[in-house]
Amino acid sequence: MIRWGVIGVGYISRRFAQGLKHLEGVELSSVWSRRPETAQSFAAEHGGQVCESFEALIESDVDAVYIATAHTSHAAYSIAALRKGKAVLCEKPAAISLAELDGVLEVSRETNMLFMEAMKPPFYPLYTRLRTHLAADPIGQANFVRAGAGVANTPADHAAFDPLRAGGGLLGIGIYEAFLAVDWLGASHEVQTLGRVAGGIDMFASVNSAHEHGIAQWYCGLDLHGRGDALICGPQGNVTIEAPWWNPQRATITYVDGRHVELDEPFVGGGLNYETQHFCELMRSGLVESSMITHSKSRQMIEMIDRSRGTLGLST
Ligand SMILES: NC(=O)c1ccc[n+]([C@@H]2O[C@H](COP(=O)([O-])OP(=O)(O)OC[C@H]3O[C@@H](n4cnc5c(N)ncnc54)[C@H](OP(=O)(O)O)[C@@H]3O)[C@@H](O)[C@H]2O)c1
Repeated sequence: MIRWGVIGVGYISRRFAQGLKHLEGVELSSVWSRRPETAQSFAAEHGGQVCESFEALIESDVDAVYIATAHTSHAAYSIAALRKGKAVLCEKPAAISLAELDGVLEVSRETNMLFMEAMKPPFYPLYTRLRTHLAADPIGQANFVRAGAGVANTPADHAAFDPLRAGGGLLGIGIYEAFLAVDWLGASHEVQTLGRVAGGIDMFASVNSAHEHGIAQWYCGLDLHGRGDALICGPQGNVTIEAPWWNPQRATITYVDGRHVELDEPFVGGGLNYETQHFCELMRSGLVESSMITHSKSRQMIEMIDRSRGTLGLST
């Protein structure tokens, strides 16, 4: 039985708890959030005992923690939990800069404890099936990726609009597009960004990035309703993952010989259960790093975001 502690009880923690209910051999054991009343209502709905402080939670008998607080707090909570011998699944972005992420990864290595950024898309059934399908019926090495998302209905008091909580589209949304680019094209060596900064955050960014295997074109925004699909092109065909591509369920592969293959793989449990299942398997195997969201991949993603933010004059 893997005992989980949940840190922060907002929107995404509820989806995490929903996902846990779909897994065997796991238990939501402890919960902590800054406001005891929100932690109490979360525990009443999903289970777990409420801890009176973050320290009390990481000193409890939990085996793993799920960190889902504001971006700016991810690194410090991760480091403290790893030092207490807890495996850490930390929401994206795992840190707000490459330098900060490197601090976390160093502690993961020092303590020999599992750390993984909760970058969910590759664990969904559709994404897994797409990879398997392309291995058997390839489109060739992908050499162009295009994706983007805009979330125009975010409430004005959301952390996304707060520079002090490292708001902005790039860290909150663009990190997904950065993932897609590095997952299909490899590490980037050039990142060009145009964007609009307002109120101290990037309201919109349009990025072209050059990678080991090709070029990506992606955007993220907080004041526009983006399309949210993804296109992956190779010499023998292309793939469209339907919106929202980061919770993927349907894709179409179009081959140069005229064939169309439709993939349809609905997900259950809110979708976070697949990455959590993977994380639990890593724990049971005694591994300290995922082979899917490697530490190196997390570094490549945040490095792209760092460069884009730097171009727009934003610093962390
Ligand atoms: N994987 C995904 O699909 C996905 C989706 C959405 C968000 N996320 C990520 O998950 C994280 C949380 O997002 P959310 O949408 O769940 O936010 P949210 O609804 O605002 O919830 C955040 C929670 O964290 C707490 N919190 C915030 N800052 C904290 C701090 N410095 N120390 C302790 N607790 C703190 C909040 O407590 P209070 O109520 O006291 O403020 C609240 O319980 C973000 O980093 C975001 O990028 C991931």
